[in-house]
Amino acid sequence: MTDTKTSVPSPLNLSRARVAVLGAGKMGGILLQAFLKENILRPDQLVATVAHPDRALALSAQWGIEVTTDNLAAVRQSNVVLLGVKPFQITDLIETLRPELDASKLLISFAASVRTSAIEAAAALDAPKPIPVIRAMPNTPSMLGAGITALCSGSNVTPAQLQLANALFEAVGRTVTVDEKHMDAVTGLSASGPAFIYIILESLAEAGVKVGLPRDIATLLAAQTTLGSARMVLDTGYHPALLKDAVTTPAGCTIDGILELEEGGLRVTLIKAVMRAAQRAKELACG
Ligand SMILES: NC(=O)c1ccc[n+]([C@@H]2O[C@H](COP(=O)([O-])OP(=O)(O)OC[C@H]3O[C@@H](n4cnc5c(N)ncnc54)[C@H](OP(=O)(O)O)[C@@H]3O)[C@@H](O)[C@H]2O)c1
Repeated sequence: MTDTKTSVPSPLNLSRARVAVLGAGKMGGILLQAFLKENILRPDQLVATVAHPDRALALSAQWGIEVTTDNLAAVRQSNVVLLGVKPFQITDLIETLRPELDASKLLISFAASVRTSAIEAAAALDAPKPIPVIRAMPNTPSMLGAGITALCSGSNVTPAQLQLANALFEAVGRTVTVDEKHMDAVTGLSASGPAFIYIILESLAEAGVKVGLPRDIATLLAAQTTLGSARMVLDTGYHPALLKDAVTTPAGCTIDGILELEEGGLRVTLIKAVMRAAQRAKELACG
């Protein structure tokens, strides 16, 4: 697994990219707004589609780019196509795009659980063409540029195409490249993960209230503690256990709290939560 935060794509590739976002809903909208805000793409390099014409009109005015309901026309004018519809819609959508797809168009799907092989097969059903397909799994903190996206390549992807996909998703946070066999695990950990962290954070805030703190202060303390602890892991590179040991004075307060966490089975519960979410991602992939 490679953290590609430091890789810098050739500006040539990005400046020549014409990007279509098919299904510019919550995640598609987050991505394309970040491309514009971070000056990764100019408005004239972007086109988006949605299902409802009235929404297309409103979003076009809001984002200052072309937004349409015509997927085929959007693909025709693009060389990078982001697929952001719901997972169950992906195959049907790609089949309608087939006349416009060839090796020169890079498909990047961020639909959960949809395998690159399924997309490749839908894209080239009768006359096999080497369609390059990349799969991405972002998460909701992408909205603040604090996301993490895992990327994996299908059969026909060049290193330059993977680099371009990395550059696009770096607009909303960090990226990692993984083998596709790990994508369900990624879904269980970093895509579902924010929900798990919010429950932990909410519980810490409740605990603060229980020991007498006003709720707003308890929530701030819990949230900033979560953020700061995550940054300690990321910025120092130290193992979380080492950082935990540094907080845990012999016969102090923290070790008493840790004893409760261990008795309550927090570690096992979190491990099982990620396992179950990853398992569900795998089941959804199998239909
Ligand atoms: N939300 C997340 O946290 C997250 C994280 C990782 C991956 N994903 C993936 O992102 C994808 C979208 O999720 P979302 O939460 O962004 O859903 P969403 O907000 O419902 O967005 C779906 C969008 O697809 C549009 N759409 C539906 N049918 C279409 C068609 N035939 N042609 C063009 N556009 C069409 C909808 O248009 P209208 O607006 O007009 O209805 C809507 O804008 C899913 O595959 C999901 O697995 C989401």
